[in-house]
Amino acid sequence: MAVEFAPLKNDLLLRAARGEQTERAPVWVMRQAGRYLPEFRELRKDHEFFEICRTPHLATEITLQPVRRYSGLLDAAIIFSDILVIPQAMGMEVLMNPGPSFPDPLNTPEDIKKLREHLDVNKELGYVFEAITMARKELKGEVPLIGFTGAPWTLFMYMVEGGGSKTLQKSKTWLFKYPEESKALLERIADICADYLVGQVKAGAQLLQVFESNAGELSPHDYETFSLPYTTRILTRVRSSLSSLSLPQVPMTLFPKGANTTPSVVASANSGYDVIGLDWCVRGSVARSAAAAANVRDGKGVAFQGNLDPAVLYGGREAIEREVKRMCEEFKGQDGKGPKGWIANLGHGITPGVDPEDMKWFMQCVHKYSAAA
Ligand code: CP3
Repeated sequence: MAVEFAPLKNDLLLRAARGEQTERAPVWVMRQAGRYLPEFRELRKDHEFFEICRTPHLATEITLQPVRRYSGLLDAAIIFSDILVIPQAMGMEVLMNPGPSFPDPLNTPEDIKKLREHLDVNKELGYVFEAITMARKELKGEVPLIGFTGAPWTLFMYMVEGGGSKTLQKSKTWLFKYPEESKALLERIADICADYLVGQVKAGAQLLQVFESNAGELSPHDYETFSLPYTTRILTRVRSSLSSLSLPQVPMTLFPKGANTTPSVVASANSGYDVIGLDWCVRGSVARSAAAAANVRDGKGVAFQGNLDPAVLYGGREAIEREVKRMCEEFKGQDGKGPKGWIANLGHGITPGVDPEDMKWFMQCVHKYSAAA
């Protein structure tokens, strides 16, 4: 049965995600509950990374840390978890020491047999759903709660490489040597991601983000061959499951990091996702006009999220203010009425060395420079 939650007090994120004009840009930051926060490091001393993910009250506590610290400045919470819980649910062992590593990666298509054949997301990932429900209750409607998944190509890359990789030798070998097996695996991952996201909405997630962090490793052609068809499959399946379950639709964000050529931006904007996340290597105004010229979503337009270089937060107050102002000028409309369909964020996750006071200043600058005249 659907759980009852407190009414939402701040819907700025959801309005911007639907492409509406807002009085100022909503702001949140990828990895906002992470190692730059002393309260995160304190709790992390006593618990393993995946132990926190699997323990709903710990995941809830960490999800709320930035919301409490930055109350009134931050416009969203994101559930504390990791994209690699999906490979774990599929039967793979994943360690975090300190980066992710898989002791037994998928070396050849033969290894696909080792994966769990029928995956019940409620059984394998129910702990994430519980954490979402608990966090949403604990938020008491202060800000919306974001759920997320890794995208198929990014998860595939970790499952095949066995961790991060500079060359992507193994995962690229799969794509070019075993394209059909690769596509079958990408499709299988996509279907799990879709079920997983639907479970997150049932549990209380109010917006969903799909992290395709390795999109930029693919050529524009391969982005449209090995990434976009599967992120689109997730979108279509989530939309149709929610409607057949009579659940309300939630906005969906695709973050195809590094897919910055104009054809890729246009293809992402045309995918049907409500919001496209941008990294800092593309100008906001260029992405906007590419999408506008392509008349995406029958003229309704797509919303964008991003895209300050996370390293700007190392530059001190003056640099942060200057660069946030520049970002706001890229994304804000010219009519003085405030931004339309823009969610302010960094272009990737906040990094561990950032001073939490500089993160606060970043958000204060967004409030100031994105506001309607
Ligand atoms: O954004 C949030 O605050 C929510 C939590 C969140 C984490 N990981 C927590 C985390 C989210 C949304 C993720 C997504 C994620 N995880 C991605 C996609 C986004 C991106 O950064 O590109 C990826 C590729 C992963 C896989 C992953 N998890 C890596 C490569 C690493 C190690 C690198 C790093 O930043 O340390 C992690 C670990 C991780 N995930 C940490 C956190 C807070 C730090 C680990 C720790 O506490 O020891």
